[in-house]
Amino acid sequence: MLRGICLFLPLMALGGLLGGQLHTELTGVLDDCFCDVESIDVFNNFKIYPRIKRLTEKDYFRYYRVNLKRPCPFWPNDGHCAIKDCHVEPCPESQIPVGIKSGNYNKYSKPADTASDVTECEQAKNLGAINSTLSNQSKEAFANWEKHDDAQDHFCELDDETAPDSEYVDLLLNPERYTGYKGPSAWRVWNSIYEENCFKPRSVYRPLNPLAPSRGDDDGEGFYTWLEGLCLEKRVFYRLISGLHSSINIHLCAEYLLNEGWGRSIWGPNLQEFRQRFDTAETKGEGTRRLKNLYFLYLIELRALSKVSPYFERAFVNLYTGNRQEDGNTKELLLQFFDEVKTFPMHFDEKSMFAGQKIEAKILKEEFRLHFKNISRIMDCVGCSKCRLWGKLQTQGLGTALKILFSEKEIQNLPEHSPSKGFQLTRQQVVPFIKGLGRLFTTFLQP
Ligand SMILES: *[C@@H]1O[C@H](CO)[C@@H](O)[C@H](O)[C@H]1NC(C)=O
Ligand SMILES: *[C@@H]1O[C@H](CO)[C@@H](O)[C@H](O)[C@H]1NC(C)=O
Ligand SMILES: *[C@@H]1O[C@H](CO)[C@@H](O)[C@H](O)[C@H]1NC(C)=O
Repeated sequence: MLRGICLFLPLMALGGLLGGQLHTELTGVLDDCFCDVESIDVFNNFKIYPRIKRLTEKDYFRYYRVNLKRPCPFWPNDGHCAIKDCHVEPCPESQIPVGIKSGNYNKYSKPADTASDVTECEQAKNLGAINSTLSNQSKEAFANWEKHDDAQDHFCELDDETAPDSEYVDLLLNPERYTGYKGPSAWRVWNSIYEENCFKPRSVYRPLNPLAPSRGDDDGEGFYTWLEGLCLEKRVFYRLISGLHSSINIHLCAEYLLNEGWGRSIWGPNLQEFRQRFDTAETKGEGTRRLKNLYFLYLIELRALSKVSPYFERAFVNLYTGNRQEDGNTKELLLQFFDEVKTFPMHFDEKSMFAGQKIEAKILKEEFRLHFKNISRIMDCVGCSKCRLWGKLQTQGLGTALKILFSEKEIQNLPEHSPSKGFQLTRQQVVPFIKGLGRLFTTFLQP
């Protein structure tokens, strides 16, 4: 079912994002996808991004309830330790050289491995922390939201938002950007996602895997032969994860800490970081594949958006915060956003997925769901609060998109005037879905 149509990816957008200096031109087939994209970025930048930006600033999408204190279920919490407990504790302010604390000194112009541990340590402590400031007014409102949410019938499983440790976080106060979280602990998280949750046998080595034993000049042939041999669904799964990984890395490269002075941080694009991850030559071609997977993710998400719009068009679906006028306004904005999305004609055609023998398809779909669920649990192993917040949010968002894609019939059969057992989305699914899309869309922005 592989339908490859030649696709010229307007990657100038990424060059634009990183200061217009990078003139990468990525051309090629966007595998597994039926699309002849002329210009995703024009559509993105001028049509849908401005709308989703306004939308995600609304109170409904601004506050996200999340449990950032769940222990990592898969290995001892060395991730936390690496930042919160081990590195940060032995790092008193007084030990930080004055020259480093004061401004006008760009420590990141040096290669990372010569940067002093002390600065990294201070940086990780400050940048990875969550600002949990919430006004008393907001706190009162949240109690009201919960009453409303609880009064709704939930037919789908709730994640952990009812746990006592779940808290509301103001996403506008905690933007996703570089936090200093990197190195082995960060690799381990992504590595276990790829190694243990992407249907991959251990005997197949992923290219450029920093945690795998070095195997000389392996260019990933073995890996890609394996990938090609997979059924469409499993290949799609891998590509979505890779696309999400690329998207997150691009956010961090685009909002990098360039300079840190007295109480004043300057954030901006870091071209060198970007090249390290995506430049064709520096990554032996891996970068190009990563970027293609990013576009692939984008198309899948657009597909999910166009499918779910009938659900939100129902009058009984409201984006409740208790302020009627504001809520009406938020919903109006959301519907306008959907109308805009519908004008984009080329989406991934997932009808060819799960189209095999009935029982086989059912097993596969379930397997797919469990793998994805597992990935969201791995996010509890991310050792930096802010990274964990955004990691959880973006994986949950993609989870919602998948749920939508596989609920086509249920959405079509929704009754006009009353909620239905067939398909429902909770606040905990809607917020990360839309907010995560907002993040994905920024990836293609031009300055
Ligand atoms: C958190 O955000 C509030 C509101 O912008 C700000 O006043 C406060 O200084 C921030 N706290 C920290 C620790 O950054
Ligand atoms: C918010 O509520 C807390 C506890 O009820 C109270 O101590 C504090 O003074 C309140 N802050 C404001 C700004 O009203
Ligand atoms: C979930 O992920 C963990 C850690 O990567 C792995 O050990 C486990 O086998 C995975 N479980 C499933 C069902 O995929």
